[in-house]
Amino acid sequence: MSTQAEARRLTAPDIRSRKGGTPIVALTSYHAHTARIVDQHCDVILVGDSLGMVMHGLETTVPVTLDMMILQGLAVMRGSRHALVVVDMPFGSYEASREQAFASCARVMKETGCGAVKLEGGRRMVETIAFLVQRGVPVMGHVGLTPQAINTIGSFRAQGRDEKDWGPIEDDALAVAEAGAFSVVIEAVAEPLAARISAKVPIPTIGIGASAACDGQILVLEDMLGLSPRVPKFVRRYGQLGPSIEAAVAGYAADVRSRAFPGPDNVYAMKAK
Ligand code: KIV
Repeated sequence: MSTQAEARRLTAPDIRSRKGGTPIVALTSYHAHTARIVDQHCDVILVGDSLGMVMHGLETTVPVTLDMMILQGLAVMRGSRHALVVVDMPFGSYEASREQAFASCARVMKETGCGAVKLEGGRRMVETIAFLVQRGVPVMGHVGLTPQAINTIGSFRAQGRDEKDWGPIEDDALAVAEAGAFSVVIEAVAEPLAARISAKVPIPTIGIGASAACDGQILVLEDMLGLSPRVPKFVRRYGQLGPSIEAAVAGYAADVRSRAFPGPDNVYAMKAK
């Protein structure tokens, strides 16, 4: 029997119980090194399908595949020990039927060991969410701006900025909660609507471009670190990694060209005879 006291990883029920409590801190991560850092400060790590844009330079998340999500989900699980790891279900892996959704989610959970999945959509996904939850798949919902629907909505515009559009967005959030989701991401929604939804739904709301009144916040890590060239208005930059990386690469290139690198400390001497 192991005598080592290991820190228990947070679970979906732990996050569910945080409604109205201390704000839930969430960030995305797609690989082991960043997961190790993020894990020390966050409650939730989302392996977002934004990896298609951030890691692969895609224009949208639509081409992202289940295999891509599983590969990066596994890396994040290896790099983290404390946070709940949630893996995004990519476009085309869950919308056709409840059965398709279960098969895809079961693959993700078995092959990565993650603690929950996230899927986009409100009322149209309630049967699927209920089916999954009843079968042991913890689901995080995602309403408001749903980037996988880009080809039907036309642009990544904020939602609910006109009060007459509030009803369907609010209904989506309530429906997802009713179906059994343990939390719901609210993306790019007018602030008063996001605050109103947070007050109404019984599960934690995780805002991104939403409201400080949400039960938690999430950002894409590379956006807040200053690595992404273009970011939405709702991102606050907490670092300037882009310029730092560029300065480091320029320094390396100059040292290689002038033969200043490698230096005496970076090469192997012969063994003493
Ligand atoms: O894919 C992603 O990173 C997301 C967050 C923006 C919530 O869904």
